[in-house]
Amino acid sequence: LTGAITMDPGYKNSGSCKSDITFLDGEEGILRYRGYAIEDLADKASFLEVSYLVIFGELPTRAQLEQFEADIRKYSLVNEEMKNIIDGFPKTAHPMGVLSSLTSALTAFNPKVVNVENESEMYEAIVKTMGKFLVLATWTFRKSSGYPLNYYDNTKGYVENFLRLMFELPTGPYTINPIVVDALDKLFILHADHEQNCSTSTVRMVGSSHAGLFASISAGVSALWGPLHGGANQAVLEMLEEIQKNGGDADKYLEKAKDKNDPFRLMGFGHRVYKNFDPRAKIIKKAADEVLATLGVNDPVLQIAKKLEESALVDEYFVSRKLYPNVDFYSGIIYRALGIPTDMFTVLFAIGRLPGWIAQWKEMRENKEPIGRPRQIYTGHPLRDFKPFEQR
Ligand code: SDX
Repeated sequence: LTGAITMDPGYKNSGSCKSDITFLDGEEGILRYRGYAIEDLADKASFLEVSYLVIFGELPTRAQLEQFEADIRKYSLVNEEMKNIIDGFPKTAHPMGVLSSLTSALTAFNPKVVNVENESEMYEAIVKTMGKFLVLATWTFRKSSGYPLNYYDNTKGYVENFLRLMFELPTGPYTINPIVVDALDKLFILHADHEQNCSTSTVRMVGSSHAGLFASISAGVSALWGPLHGGANQAVLEMLEEIQKNGGDADKYLEKAKDKNDPFRLMGFGHRVYKNFDPRAKIIKKAADEVLATLGVNDPVLQIAKKLEESALVDEYFVSRKLYPNVDFYSGIIYRALGIPTDMFTVLFAIGRLPGWIAQWKEMRENKEPIGRPRQIYTGHPLRDFKPFEQR
């Protein structure tokens, strides 16, 4: 039976693929985008610079970056009729469900994006997605808050626009804090791509049928929503708030996570590939200390998170299973300090992951990969005769 699951040499029917985008070593805790170390990119580049690198394969020149940013601005306007769609949702709808629907709806207003025939159509689809997705992502928050929907300001940068789109009210201009912009730049970079994770594999799978870029990204948003994947950053904060509400006893929850009869899992811990520290978690943990200190935020859940990590890293159950903090363990603490509502944390993960989804979809289409069609190991009944009703 094992033969049935060996990698098809042409990668045609297996669930695996070849990619030039991201290198990840789970044992060594290494992550690189197009050969550049995540530590360098998080420290020295902007999110749009890294988005360009991930999508087009090289760090942009200043002129290329300026043109990329200008083209994103040019296509950031969303068709006004999209408001009819968002108005159809109740305020209580989860932002990820709204975002997935709005992203798919973009196809109706941009039908040409479905079948990109050449490089310039591919480029246009990419900058349209980068521009419109950011606006729609913030509309999910504006809708649930009862605030009027904002538009991209062409005089400001991508991350600055995210903050304005989220928080600027008609009562007056929103003051952009450069510390918040830097923190978000870094967080978005750390989420930009992560090889064949659940949501990216979904984008490739949907895109392999030649469904358009918006439809493929919409599917990726739905996959990311799950609490075992991108939804974990929201689940981590809800877990930490519950621990805090129940007296802050981190060790009690560690025992719960180890109890096989208890469905509780330590959210933000463990990873399908990293069996060492997630390099992104190390960077985010350091950034959490810096951002909260600089903003003068003293959030008790940060101390609870550190206590959980400290105890888990010396606990046989976690050590023997190589369970370490992942990208989601500390990110929500920073988002909360920046004033982002908890149910928007996974939307921010999606904004960060967008360039990776686009890059992987582009690579799959440029490589003219066949439609995704993983095989299975059949474990059902052998052939059997039909039974009439009286024999059932
Ligand atoms: C992301 O793939 C990616 O790259 C994803 C991602 C990306 O950038 O796209 O990195 C983003 O999704 C990070 C993961 C976020 N999810 C969480 O933090 C949810 C909590 N984590 C777990 O549910 C779990 O660790 C997973 C889902 C991440 C991995 O699940 P697996 O592969 O089933 O875990 P495993 O096979 O490594 O588990 C081995 C053992 C099992 O126990 P035993 O059967 O051996 O007794 O460890 C246990 C698991 O029950 N275990 C946990 C645990 N994670 C695994 N026990 C308690 N708490 C946990 N968090």
